[in-house]
Amino acid sequence: MNQYQIAVIVGSLRRDSMNRKFADALIRLAPAEFSFKQLDIGTLPLYNQDNEANPMEAVRQLKDDIKAAQGVLFVTPEYNRSIPGVLKNAIDHASRPYGQSAWAGKPAGVIGVSPGAIGSALAQQHLRNILAYLNMPTLGQPEAFVQAKEGLYDDAGNIGEASKKFLQGWMGRYVDWVKQHAA
Ligand code: FNR
Repeated sequence: MNQYQIAVIVGSLRRDSMNRKFADALIRLAPAEFSFKQLDIGTLPLYNQDNEANPMEAVRQLKDDIKAAQGVLFVTPEYNRSIPGVLKNAIDHASRPYGQSAWAGKPAGVIGVSPGAIGSALAQQHLRNILAYLNMPTLGQPEAFVQAKEGLYDDAGNIGEASKKFLQGWMGRYVDWVKQHAA
């Protein structure tokens, strides 16, 4: 089992992040042959091109974890109608040095939660732009703009009945996408 390892990147460092809680519940909908590792982007330094030749351990670890994965799952909030700076910082780190990006070719899924009605849609769209440049085949449909509201989870913190069918379907498409694109 666990044939496929997925690197999970949550675009929030907040202790009680709704996106991290959502990521934890979402990955429980995946089949047993998939395992998920949430990568730590909170200890990364601010990206500085001067340090590319001699990166800090946290940067090396991030790149190693992405390279070892068969796919990447981005779960991100929206900040000011785009992605949070901490997420862009992580993306930039792992994209360098030029020609040595860890992202290239890795199949990706993009999803996010927001208290707002359009549930991270614009952040996701900006992220898709970046991932296209990084040559990451990214699941196009179904899109999932999840609004954090009553009933999203059950009492055990799993995805609740109201959203389960849709998100189970999303996960099914995502795992098929990874299988299709994983080398
Ligand atoms: C937000 N929030 C937000 N929400 C949204 O739907 N669209 C937006 O553009 C923004 N902009 C924004 C900017 C900044 C700086 C903050 C701190 C917040 C609200 C955001 O969705 C909410 O704080 C979520 O709880 C953030 O996700 P986590 O940290 O709970 O995962």
